Amino acid sequence: MATDLMETITSLAKRRGIVFPSSEIYGGLRSCWDYGPLGVELKRNVKDAWWRSMVQERADIVGLDSSILMSPKVWETSGHVQGFTDPLVECKECRRRFRADHTKGTECPECGGELSEPRRFNLMFKTHMGPVEDDAHQVYLRPETAQGIYVDFATVQASSRKKVPFGIAQIGKSFRNEITPGNFTFRTREFEQMEMQFFVEPGTEDEHLRHWLELRHQWCLDLGLRPEKVRIREHEPDELAHYAKEAHDIEYEFPFGWSELEGIHNRTDFDLRAHMEASGEDLRYFDQENDNHFVPFVVETAAGADRAMLAFLVDAYRVEEAPNAKGELEKRTVLRLHKDLAPIKVAVLPLSRKETLTPEARRVFDLLKTRWMCDYDDAGSIGRRYRRQDEVGTPYCVTVDFDSLDDHAVTVRDRDSMAQDRIPIDDAVAYLEERL
Ligand code: GAP
Repeated sequence: MATDLMETITSLAKRRGIVFPSSEIYGGLRSCWDYGPLGVELKRNVKDAWWRSMVQERADIVGLDSSILMSPKVWETSGHVQGFTDPLVECKECRRRFRADHTKGTECPECGGELSEPRRFNLMFKTHMGPVEDDAHQVYLRPETAQGIYVDFATVQASSRKKVPFGIAQIGKSFRNEITPGNFTFRTREFEQMEMQFFVEPGTEDEHLRHWLELRHQWCLDLGLRPEKVRIREHEPDELAHYAKEAHDIEYEFPFGWSELEGIHNRTDFDLRAHMEASGEDLRYFDQENDNHFVPFVVETAAGADRAMLAFLVDAYRVEEAPNAKGELEKRTVLRLHKDLAPIKVAVLPLSRKETLTPEARRVFDLLKTRWMCDYDDAGSIGRRYRRQDEVGTPYCVTVDFDSLDDHAVTVRDRDSMAQDRIPIDDAVAYLEERL
């Protein structure tokens, strides 16, 4: 069943232009995915919802967009060159490679052959800057966005004049040469992170961590994830990343089991102190009120945009029985996505393709398109068009029919209740504004 649901979601995503394999005409590139017309909207809505709650609606968090390529010294200092590794084992028979912590015993899960002793495999992608490909020109693709925030800490603090406690947030691509990517977009080698570092006075980090854990959990629920599918799990000491003193995962119950959506970490003053020592720059914060300099502690919230989007997709997927136009029960697939996340908010559907209807339907589309992402669909029966919109989670369908030409009214259908309201075209914006 579980595999079936992931297969169903993967094939729906491909068929409807949400997410599909990258470079597919060349057979694809393992674990790399492209976001199509609907996927790009859905992912953008996830990121916008995050930015709204983490930056726009807060006076104590500011945004940043730091570069993906950074000085290699950043990664030497942060401990990633030394410590950002996974234990790799290789089968002596079939030569397949696995993460040692994903296998049991010394037997290959594929062919039963003997597995090698684990060795540390660094997950950072390397490339070269400029035309010379030697060690002196080697740079890394960032494996987390957080380091950009740490190295810019003093500049951002000084220019924004924020007082501790305050946060810096950023959304951007990260890269990890994962040994075993998989489960669709859950674990990939190129992905987007939504990270926030909250700088606090030493000694207050525990209370801030608990607060952020609660806020981030609530964010998942506010955007519609079913509460029984979301839980918080604290890391065991042997799971902790090299920078973390304490870590909690917000987990979602995917069809393949409970898995991490987001991490909330107490990173202490590990990163700022290391960068201060290595760069020689003073990254301490000056507390004017108490005339005191200190290195702030950091509580980090680290989420993945692709992973969050996958959870929202899986959680929203339903197959329901609903009456068709003739009143017979029919199966319908519906994505019960939160309205803020739905890729298309309103679909305008002229009842027929007849020329007489087109100008009126276009007028309705033009009226709505400046407010919301809209679709215009005049192909096929109206029932089929409703199903197509349900399948991608469009909250409202607006049907323009022949009566509309006389009464200047349209029928608005609600995705979830399937209730229909007849409203004047002039009231359509206000009607939808109240509901979207
Ligand atoms: N800055 C801390 C940090 O990067 P992490 O727990 O390694 O912490 C944070 O990553 C989040 O980034 C994860 O919870 C997940 O949502 C996302 N993420 C990490 N690795 C990923 C991968 N290979 N594919 C997709 N998303 C990933």
